[in-house]
Amino acid sequence: MKKAFAKMLIVVAAALLIGAPQAAQADDLKGDLEIFSWWAGDEGPALEALIDIYKKQHPGVNVINATVTGGSGVNAQAVLKTRMLGGEPPDSFQVHAGQELIGTWVKADRMEDLTPLFKEQGWMEVFPEGLIKLIGTDKGIWSVPVNIHRSNVMWYVPANLQKWGVAAPKTWDDFFAAADKLKAQGVVPLALAQNWTANHLWESVALAAMGADNWDALWAGKLSFDSPEVVKAWELFGKVLQYTNSDAPSLSWQQATDMVVDGRAAFNVMGDWAAGYMSTTKKLAPGTGYGWIASPDTTGTFMFLADSFGLPKGAPHRDNAVAWLKVLGSKEGSDAFNPLKGSISARKDSDLSKYNAYSQSAAKDWTGDRVVGSLAHGVAANDTFKNGFASIMEMFLKTKNPQAASKACAQLAKKAGI
Ligand code: GAL
Repeated sequence: MKKAFAKMLIVVAAALLIGAPQAAQADDLKGDLEIFSWWAGDEGPALEALIDIYKKQHPGVNVINATVTGGSGVNAQAVLKTRMLGGEPPDSFQVHAGQELIGTWVKADRMEDLTPLFKEQGWMEVFPEGLIKLIGTDKGIWSVPVNIHRSNVMWYVPANLQKWGVAAPKTWDDFFAAADKLKAQGVVPLALAQNWTANHLWESVALAAMGADNWDALWAGKLSFDSPEVVKAWELFGKVLQYTNSDAPSLSWQQATDMVVDGRAAFNVMGDWAAGYMSTTKKLAPGTGYGWIASPDTTGTFMFLADSFGLPKGAPHRDNAVAWLKVLGSKEGSDAFNPLKGSISARKDSDLSKYNAYSQSAAKDWTGDRVVGSLAHGVAANDTFKNGFASIMEMFLKTKNPQAASKACAQLAKKAGI
């Protein structure tokens, strides 16, 4: 009896010993990984899909999903700044590709160069060259992109438009004609939310007013912000604002989208995270539950932004963070994240069969349309300009003075080095 028991112990111990080194080899990462973003609540499911993949690959790591609520990072970016300046960086943080990354964090020498990781993972070939340029400088590559979002999209519910006898507008003139009909039926023509969504709406209206060439010229410092083109953009924006809800400043972007979904408003101009919200959270089907069109007078232009994550210098758990970045840039990670997020993969080799009808149409436009960068989401201008622009917007919402807003933008552009 005793002998049999001892034999059994030996067998069990041997099995454990054989198994143990394998498990240690599969993953030897330990400790924490703090990921910092503003993808909380309704914005959370796509990020959680990435975290699930990470946890499977690295079961020994304790993932801290540090989120600060607030659309477009309005609150998170302020908290991040305090932490970075106080020498307490998270292990990895969400940052927009373009000037938000380069003109803010790279300029301040706060990021690690990820070029070796890009080479090792074969990412130089799978990410579009134009995008790599936006996250890179002559000194390195500074973040890993997780998606491509489109900013200039107008959303609606097809059945509601039919009921109200209006069509999705291709131009702002079409919109104004529909808006009068909608107002007469007690429907808000265009749902708007807190102030950053006004900046978001502004960029689509400005693109419509001045066209893609002028938009690019503006950010290249070749078209002045007090030029007639920009004044015209503010004028059109002022007119569009007349058709929005008066409680906008107290609403989140999701609540403005809800106004459209619930039939209190006809349209909403929002990035395609609204498609993620309507599909993933609201369980609406693209095409029938909700419809979309390029925001008026911008058909053929794709105003884009990309979320990415970087590795701050001094990240407390650097190895865990590098492993996180590998998940973000992988095909598996990208195709788990993006179908839930409403965005498309930043990789050129994504499996489109995993994406819904909206995202498939966005993917087609991404490769076929003229592509320009978003101001409201960090591509076109650095944080100095973006934050100053938010104050100019506050002023405009009160005074509705296109000349004054254009002049203030011109002064700000000088300060921001545009
Ligand atoms: C953008 C971000 C999107 C989405 C949106 C709303 O700035 O790039 O991924 O989160 O804000 O919060």
